[in-house]
Amino acid sequence: MLKQTLLKATEAGAAELQRYFNTNYQVFNKEGVNNPVTEADHASERAIFEVIRNNHPDHFILSEESGEIIQDSTYKWIIDPIDGTINFANNIPICAVSIGIEQAGEIIMGAVYNPMMNEFFFAQRGFGATLNNERIHVSSKDSVDKSCLATGFPYTYLDSPNGPLQVFDRLIRRGIPVRRLGSAALDLCWVACGRFDGFYEHKLQAWDSAAGFLIVEEAGGKVTDLENHPYNPYQPGIIATNGKIHEELFGWIKGENKYEV
Ligand code: IPD
Ligand code: CA
Ligand code: CA
Repeated sequence: MLKQTLLKATEAGAAELQRYFNTNYQVFNKEGVNNPVTEADHASERAIFEVIRNNHPDHFILSEESGEIIQDSTYKWIIDPIDGTINFANNIPICAVSIGIEQAGEIIMGAVYNPMMNEFFFAQRGFGATLNNERIHVSSKDSVDKSCLATGFPYTYLDSPNGPLQVFDRLIRRGIPVRRLGSAALDLCWVACGRFDGFYEHKLQAWDSAAGFLIVEEAGGKVTDLENHPYNPYQPGIIATNGKIHEELFGWIKGENKYEV
């Protein structure tokens, strides 16, 4: 039942992305210079809420555009109605609906669907991860030098030691490819299916990563915070890798001298 509702809610949100993509719709700005929210973000959120409320009216909801809808329940739906809104608003088809389900403080299921590329990622704790119903697995690269990485940057720049630009600078100076897709949920899924060997970001929200982090773990990867501690989606930093390069990538992020070039 829970899984069916999750799939249906994700599809309902994604149908709104497809309906609005590359059309004329209203765009509003949130904090920051260019941090848009569109009519499509709200329509996707409404469609997702409707499915959840019809099936589990007593569940807690945390969603990017509406915040917390508090209920006395052990279940919490963590929703990003469009992850990759800047891409969406520029007609770049790298964006997705992302929904994670938490039960008693643990993420137990996640779905990330990019309808523009027809790619539906799903994971259930203990049952592996899939892309369009086929099992997926992380890559087997064993060094950062051989890796293709991904990262993202916050809307409001974060100037701190080992901050986003410092880490990016280190890796780029070394000659390591670091991509910036513009959708953290898809960055995580692309680690899960082996396209990227690792992903890190400094300032995410729970709705960006709740589904994707479970999908990486269930695909055999490793996810921690930026201090290399077990991952918790309610704090900002993330390192997600195939497991093999995790310690080494953590060293690059911390700026350990042995990695300086
Ligand atoms: C953003 C994307 C982006 C990441 C930002 C997020 P949004 O989410 O995931 O890749 O770098 O930190 O805020 O605003 O498109 O839902
Ligand atoms: Ca997001
Ligand atoms: Ca969003």
